[in-house]
Amino acid sequence: MSASLIRFENVSKAFGSTVVIDDLNLDVRKGEFLTLLGPSGSGKTTTLLMLAGFEAPSGGTILVDGKRIDDLPAHRRGMGVVFQNYALFPHLTVAQNVAFPLQMRGVPRGEIARRVDAALDRVQLRHLSSRKPSQLSGGQQQRVALTRCLVFEPKVILMDEPLSALDKQLRERLQLEIRELYRREGLTVVFVTHDQSEALTMSDRIAVFNRGAIAQIGTPADIYDRPANRFVSEFIGETNLLEAEVTGRGDDHLDLALEGGPGIRVPGRCEDRAVAVSIRPERLVLDAPELDNHLDATVDDVVYQGNHLRIHLSCGPLRLVAQSERRIEPPVVGRKVRVSFAAEDCTVLTE
Ligand SMILES: Nc1ncnc2c1ncn2[C@@H]1O[C@H](COP(=O)(O)OP(=O)(O)O)[C@@H](O)[C@H]1O
Ligand SMILES: [Mg+2]
Repeated sequence: MSASLIRFENVSKAFGSTVVIDDLNLDVRKGEFLTLLGPSGSGKTTTLLMLAGFEAPSGGTILVDGKRIDDLPAHRRGMGVVFQNYALFPHLTVAQNVAFPLQMRGVPRGEIARRVDAALDRVQLRHLSSRKPSQLSGGQQQRVALTRCLVFEPKVILMDEPLSALDKQLRERLQLEIRELYRREGLTVVFVTHDQSEALTMSDRIAVFNRGAIAQIGTPADIYDRPANRFVSEFIGETNLLEAEVTGRGDDHLDLALEGGPGIRVPGRCEDRAVAVSIRPERLVLDAPELDNHLDATVDDVVYQGNHLRIHLSCGPLRLVAQSERRIEPPVVGRKVRVSFAAEDCTVLTE
C-alpha cells in the first residue's frame, strides 16, 4: 500500500500565459483510493488529463512505476478513464460500448465477446446488453461507463466527477459500488470531485486543491480533524473559524484572546501573533463545565435538521454554530447559555 505507483514531479501546466497547475508534487500509492478535491477551477481535471495523457504538462515529469510516461499515448498508459461527460457512444449498444476498448487494443473477436459478457455479468447489466444508452437510466449509463473502463483490466482507474450528474440517492449507492469494485479488483483509483462529503466517504487519502496547488494531503480524518490552513478548514465540512490574538505562550499551549475579548486556551505553539482557531460545530457543547474553554453566548436560532439540531449563537461580535444530537432539550431562542469546548478540539491556523 505504501509504495508509490504514480509520481508527479514539479509538474506545471499553463494555457497561454495562465498558469493553472503550479509546481505540483504528488505521489499516488499502489492500491490506494486517492481523491483530488477542490472548488471548480482549482486544476483537478487538468491534473487528471495530464495523467491520462490527454494534456501534456508544460513542465515537470509524470512517472509510473518509476518510468516517465510523457511520450506514451493515452491508450498505452494502462489507465481506465471515466468522465462525467465522457458519454457512451449513442449509436452503439451497451455491449458494443463495452467492447470498444478491447477492439482498440486488438483483442481477438471471440475473446472480446467473452470478456464483455463477463464484465456485464459482474455489474448485473448483462440483460441490458443490446440496449442503446438512451434506453438506460443515468445510473445504468454510468455503470456501463464504469464497466467499459474496467473491461481491459487497467491497473489504474481515473474518474472525473463520475457521479455529479446523478441524484443524491443514486450517487450514494454508486459511491458504495465504486468502493466495492475498487476493493474487489485491487485497483488504484484517482478520483476527482468537488463534493467534500463524497471525498470523505470514498477516499483513503484526499488531496485538497486550491488554485492549482495542493493545500493539504492526508487521510479524511487528518484533513477533517487537523486542517492545515484556513482554506482547508472551511472547504471540508463546516467550521467555526475565529480570528484570535496570542496573549500567552506555555510549553505546549497558547492563550488566545478572541475577537471581542474572551480568552481561551488551545494546544500548540506558534510564533505568530495573529492566528485563527477552527472548531467544528459538533465540538461545541452547551453547559459542560468539565471542558477547558467556556464562552457566554446568546441563542439566536435553533434549526431542526432531522438527526441533529443546529444552534446559532452569538458571543459579542462572534457568530458560532453548534451542532447537537436531537435528544437534548433544545435551548430557547434569546436565552443566555454557556458554550464549552475542549482545548484539544481547537486547531490553530497560521495560514
Ligand atoms: N483548454 C483550456 N484552455 C484554457 N484554460 C483552461 C483549459 N482547461 C482548463 N483551463 C483553466 O484551467 C483552470 C483549471 O481548470 P480545471 O482543471 O478544469 O479545474 P477543475 O477541474 O478543478 O474545475 C480553470 O481556470 C480553467 O478555466
Ligand atoms: Mg473539473
